[in-house]
Formats: sequence, structure tokens, C-alpha cells
Amino acid sequence: MNRTLAILKPDCVKRNLVGEVIARIQKGGFKILGLKMVRLTEEAAGEFYAVHRERPFYTDLVKFMTSGPCVPIVLEKGNAFEEFRWLIGATDPKEAVAGTIRRDFAESKQENIVHGSDSPENAEREISFFFSERELVELK
Ligand code: RTP
Ligand code: MG
Repeated sequence: MNRTLAILKPDCVKRNLVGEVIARIQKGGFKILGLKMVRLTEEAAGEFYAVHRERPFYTDLVKFMTSGPCVPIVLEKGNAFEEFRWLIGATDPKEAVAGTIRRDFAESKQENIVHGSDSPENAEREISFFFSERELVELK
């Protein structure tokens, strides 16, 4: 078992899709270890996506991620980050496989409903960005 970080992005919250997306995640066999709702500051969103600082979409991405509350969720499953990237689909919903969360719900490459960590190392770094270990449950 290992862990990954999901974020239900501001478009997901605004469009009242939080319940439906969490249902998909749970049906996909992921266990929830922690969950909260937060409004990111510009500084926090910029730091979270710092690897994209030089990319042309960075300013818009920070604006989008601070446009309303989002829902970070710590998930557990075997091969968690890879399985979760499969469940959410490609960054651009037009390129995402049928049945994936982004294909079914996302409206654009930017407003694509959900974030998923892209490696086990980044998963752990991103989990600690939002959660202390005390905020996470242990599943028996
Ligand atoms: P994420 O980190 O949010 O899970 O998304 P990802 O790995 O699939 O894609 P990444 O390349 O890491 O991009 C991060 C987020 O930036 C926005 N984006 N917009 N307009 C554009 O061309 C563009 N490209 C990326 C998306 O919100 C993307 O998820
Ligand atoms: Mg990414």
C-alpha cells in the first residue's frame, strides 16, 4: 500500500461535483486517509506548482487554483500514484480516455477537476504540504 495526493480543484467545488468525484475515487478502490477544504493563497498555489514556474500557463494556473476553495485528499492504494493518474486521465480532457474523471467532468485543459501526484516522492512531499501526520487516519 502507498499514498498519493488528490486535489479536487476549484472548478470541481464550484460545479458541485465533489460528491460525484469522491464516489468515483472510492469505487476505484482508493481509501481516504485525510480530507479537508482549503482556500489556497497565491503564495501557496505558486509554491505547490513551483515546477511549472517558467511555463506559459503558470500565472493562469495560480489564478485558477486560488479562485475558490479546493479539497485536498490523501488516498491509499497499492501503486497509488499510478493507479490514480489512470483514474483521472490525461491533463487535457479531450485527450483523456473514456470513463476517466477528467474526460467525464472537465471542461478544459486548465479547469480539469482534479490533481494527482506524479511520483511516490512528490506524493509524500505534496501530502505534507497540506496535512500533518496527526491529521491522517491509520486504516487497519
Ligand atoms: P496536475 O499536476 O494538476 O495533476 O496536472 P497534470 O500533472 O496532469 O498536468 P501538469 O503538466 O502538471 O499541469 C498542471 C496543471 O496546470 C494546468 N495546465 N494548463 N493551459 C494549459 O496548457 C495548461 N497546461 C497545464 C492544468 O490545470 C494542469 O492540471
Ligand atoms: Mg502535474
